[in-house]
Amino acid sequence: MTAEAIELVREHLDRVTPPESLDESRRLQLRQRITELLRERDAVLVAHYYTDPEIQSLAEETGGCVSDSLEMARFGKEHSATTLVVAGVRFMGETAKILSPEKRVLMPTLEATCSLDIGCPVEQFSAFCDQHPDRTVVVYANTSAAVKARADWVVTSSIAVDLIDYLDKRGEKILWAPDQHLGRYVQQKTGADVLCWEGACIVHEEFKARGVIDLKKAHPDAAVLVHPESPEAVVAIADVVGSTSQLIRAAAELPNPTMIVATDRGIFYKMQQLAKGKTLIEAPTAGSGATCRSCAHCPWMAMNGLENLCHVLEDEQGAGQQIFVDPDIAARAMIPLDRMLAFGRERPR
Ligand code: 13P
Ligand code: SF4
Repeated sequence: MTAEAIELVREHLDRVTPPESLDESRRLQLRQRITELLRERDAVLVAHYYTDPEIQSLAEETGGCVSDSLEMARFGKEHSATTLVVAGVRFMGETAKILSPEKRVLMPTLEATCSLDIGCPVEQFSAFCDQHPDRTVVVYANTSAAVKARADWVVTSSIAVDLIDYLDKRGEKILWAPDQHLGRYVQQKTGADVLCWEGACIVHEEFKARGVIDLKKAHPDAAVLVHPESPEAVVAIADVVGSTSQLIRAAAELPNPTMIVATDRGIFYKMQQLAKGKTLIEAPTAGSGATCRSCAHCPWMAMNGLENLCHVLEDEQGAGQQIFVDPDIAARAMIPLDRMLAFGRERPR
């Protein structure tokens, strides 16, 4: 990341307020009230795997969805509810709104952002694209609506390798943004000509290869599962590299009794459900001289709690935490997003 991006990320991190811890009776009271409000407001809860297990289980219990970012987009677009409550980070809410402009899209907090989104301001990104007019612009879903509006394609980690391979076979050169680690990974997997923006995820970039190797020595029968936003050295020692949903599937299907997992620990809720009886171990983020800022948990995903979720539903107008996207930007961003959904439909995930 550039020094400017690091400074912007730091400013956002200073504003992060994790939800308060709740006693048991308040927790149950909130769960019940949210369930009633979802029904009354014709709303459905769409949650990412990195949110608190409390939120994920509520989404499951109330007929919502817990998934990766691609499936969240698809589910929200196809669901009949008139209100989508997106528990995740801001780009997920914006994507839901762009794909379903007729629906009301609420989030427990609009402050929940992403270091990849912050590190890719549209003005600089547009200038970068202008310098490389011969390249097809592919942006990761973890970007603002305005950056998507400047792209030819939007992609999530679950279809990134397939899409770049497809474009490469058509003879296209790629401009990729914003995650440099995922960009390098897809370049290495496909051999395509990929020019990368230098963004990074503050959660995944903290995983340490040395720590994973030491852990693997202590658990020789473990499989190492890595999200491709992780550093190159960590990806290099993985048994499986994939999106959140691909890692969950791998944990369930691999014969290994133990998994060392290099991604946000929120994923353990769903992974443990599907990989019953297996031991899941968090990949280390610390190590000699390391400073762990996020410690395998996204500070922005962690901002989604029962209190703010209930609060946003109580507010009948949904005025406080409602997502709005400029119609002109939304219309332009819809084109690469629709391409992403169409491409995703045709690929096994
Ligand atoms: P997935 O698309 O794999 O769910 O990842 C989203 C994300 O933010 C990873 O950090
Ligand atoms: Fe962004 Fe990383 Fe958080 Fe995912 S885990 S939302 S990429 S900061």
